[in-house]
Amino acid sequence: MTNNMFFIANWKMFGDFKSVNSIKKVIKLSKDKKYKKAKIIYCPPYTLLDKFFKITKNSKIEIGAQNCHHYQNPGPFTGSVNVDLIKSIGAKYVIIGHSENRSSGDTNHNINLKIKSALKKKLKVIFCIGETLKEKRKNKTNSVLNSQIIRGLKNIKKNNNIIFAYEPVWSIGTGLVPKNKDLKIQINVIKKILSKFWRLNNPKIIYGGSVNPKNINDLRKISSIKGFLVGGASQKAKNFIDIIKKTIN
Ligand code: 13P
Repeated sequence: MTNNMFFIANWKMFGDFKSVNSIKKVIKLSKDKKYKKAKIIYCPPYTLLDKFFKITKNSKIEIGAQNCHHYQNPGPFTGSVNVDLIKSIGAKYVIIGHSENRSSGDTNHNINLKIKSALKKKLKVIFCIGETLKEKRKNKTNSVLNSQIIRGLKNIKKNNNIIFAYEPVWSIGTGLVPKNKDLKIQINVIKKILSKFWRLNNPKIIYGGSVNPKNINDLRKISSIKGFLVGGASQKAKNFIDIIKKTIN
């Protein structure tokens, strides 16, 4: 497990029934022994989860949702999906705390409730953290990461079922990527917080934000990064495959 590299495709609000077929090439790659270290996870919109599950069933590719409601039982929450519903279609993961959801109302508190709910029902969590440009300019990155982690994990026992996705908000969808030197520093900061707060010494930390087939050559050099959370570039199989191949080779 420790040698695995995660390649998590976050399709956000993109894709349709037809686009599901485009991942057949990625399924083929996932069966190639050369790439057995690649742990590929697709997080499509809710409406495509079932199709993704069926098409990837005989492969190692796993499926995740992009968010969940914190409430564990069925309930009167129009438009929401809880972890039971996500699990029922065969998904194994859920993204929680994505900045696009933080900016539309997710707080550290309800992110914490969502993480608890997911872990309780044995869904693995892709926990997103990261600073905005404003916070970065005010030198608040470390304290933002600290409070996102500490509040997000409040009253949760140390466990191995969380992947920490460092996604600087200013890097998402902008084409801007931190310099390797800065990224290494931030990954170290996250490691230190986790080691102090949770005594977790080998956290799975991945990076997300404008990852593409070009910048992957640099990003892959950072050995403390255990994979990538890819938005735009994951929607085209060719680009996603390029990212996987360049990382593993
Ligand atoms: P982009 O790769 O499109 O910048 O998106 C990153 C992201 O938000 C993944 O969760």
